[in-house]
Amino acid sequence: MELFTKTLFLCLALALANGAPAHPQDATVEEGDAALPDRCEGLEFDAITPDEKGTTFFFKGAHLWKGFHGPAQLSNEFFKELDDIHHVGHVDAAFRMHSTDNPDIHDHIYFFLDDKVFSYYNQTLEDGYPKEIQEDFPGVPSHLDAAVECPKGECGADSVLFFKGHDVHVYDITTKTVKTKTWSHLPACTSVLHWQEHYYCFHGHNFTKFNPVSGEVSGTYPKDARNYFMKCPNFGHGGDYKVPKCSEVKIDAITTDDAGKTYFFAGPIYMRLDTRRDGLHSFPITRMWKEVTGGVDAVFSYTDKIYLIKGDQVYIYKVDAHSTLIEGYPKSLKEELGIEGQVDAAFVCPNQHIVHIIQGQRIRDVDLTTTPRLVARDLLLPLSDIDGGLCSSEGIDVFKGSQYYHYESAMTLVTSRLAPLPLNITSAMMGCQD
Ligand SMILES: *[C@@H]1O[C@H](CO)[C@@H](O)[C@H](O)[C@H]1NC(C)=O
Ligand SMILES: *[C@@H]1O[C@H](CO)[C@@H](O)[C@H](O)[C@H]1NC(C)=O
Ligand SMILES: *[C@@H]1O[C@H](CO)[C@@H](O)[C@H](O)[C@H]1NC(C)=O
Repeated sequence: MELFTKTLFLCLALALANGAPAHPQDATVEEGDAALPDRCEGLEFDAITPDEKGTTFFFKGAHLWKGFHGPAQLSNEFFKELDDIHHVGHVDAAFRMHSTDNPDIHDHIYFFLDDKVFSYYNQTLEDGYPKEIQEDFPGVPSHLDAAVECPKGECGADSVLFFKGHDVHVYDITTKTVKTKTWSHLPACTSVLHWQEHYYCFHGHNFTKFNPVSGEVSGTYPKDARNYFMKCPNFGHGGDYKVPKCSEVKIDAITTDDAGKTYFFAGPIYMRLDTRRDGLHSFPITRMWKEVTGGVDAVFSYTDKIYLIKGDQVYIYKVDAHSTLIEGYPKSLKEELGIEGQVDAAFVCPNQHIVHIIQGQRIRDVDLTTTPRLVARDLLLPLSDIDGGLCSSEGIDVFKGSQYYHYESAMTLVTSRLAPLPLNITSAMMGCQD
């Protein structure tokens, strides 16, 4: 747990466009480590893969980097058999298995060296490994360049894409069948990373984002990996988000959208909380919601839309790939919700049509199905100075500074005379520092 927690902070990164992370904390190469490779010099990785805890490992020769920040370390300190058995000093390809139907292999890391495959879990080599690649992956060639998992939903079935030159061997994990495609338009990838629903082909010190089904590249690529996937002096742009202590966390807003993505907002950044498999990362709010430049006071989700409130303005965005601002917005709070004044928190419970709006010590219910909007109920809360509220099938969490209060339902929230005992926000919840 300790290790997991530390890793989250190291990984914490601000991002720019295109879903790539940027701005991990300062990389420091210690004195006397002159022989270690420096990824800021612009090297080409042999393989990149996350582990089961969401830490991304970058491999080059006999070294690896753990996370988006920090110096190189010897790979055999982590995965000792790769070196003991093989002495080749480099990994051809690696990926983290995604196969929820097969708990025995789900989340294992697979390494490919020449004609052998190694399967690790919890940094321990699994019994029976290494094997010939074709024993585990019939029809897949040896001497690979790169490999990446592609879960059902992003690919047609739980699959692994194996790259060799411009050929991509798409391996179906369930049927153990291979289909080969040729993507000549894509640079020859020496490593491929699946990160937060996106696919990145690394070549040289650059990377190109591609569609895992069609291979299509949209947007301006290649980009320099040093601006996005690692913290390097003189690379990257934008500001850094300092990871707060859990006891000093103060969120502005929190919400779960219709697609099941949970976001929290603090100052100029937001963080996705549902992507723990890839670590927790922060991004500028404007990356996703371009027009919302000054932070937020409250955010809630209703049907396929997300409502961001700042001052007396309400911005409504469609929950889709582009986060499109609905025409005519922002509008005033009065016009959109029939209320005025500072909003501290707002939330809608799953499949409900009432938005509960917290303003100071009052909670106001507004029915989102009636026009014009009217405050249907206005009650006093046993709490004040609330920062955010989140309603899920498990109940309601009301956030205040570094603590939160859990209620069974909106009814218990408004009818309880006394606040329940507060709980502390933990690093596992929000990626803060214990
Ligand atoms: C992971 O490995 C360590 C030591 O190698 C061991 O102490 C720990 O119990 C293992 N954890 C799991 C979940 O297997
Ligand atoms: C990296 O991409 C830039 C364009 O963004 C290109 O000029 C350069 O040649 C590429 N370098 C490598 C090593 O792929
Ligand atoms: C919350 O943290 C404080 C100190 O940081 C501690 O004294 C308190 O016991 C914690 N509360 C709970 C419910 O864990």
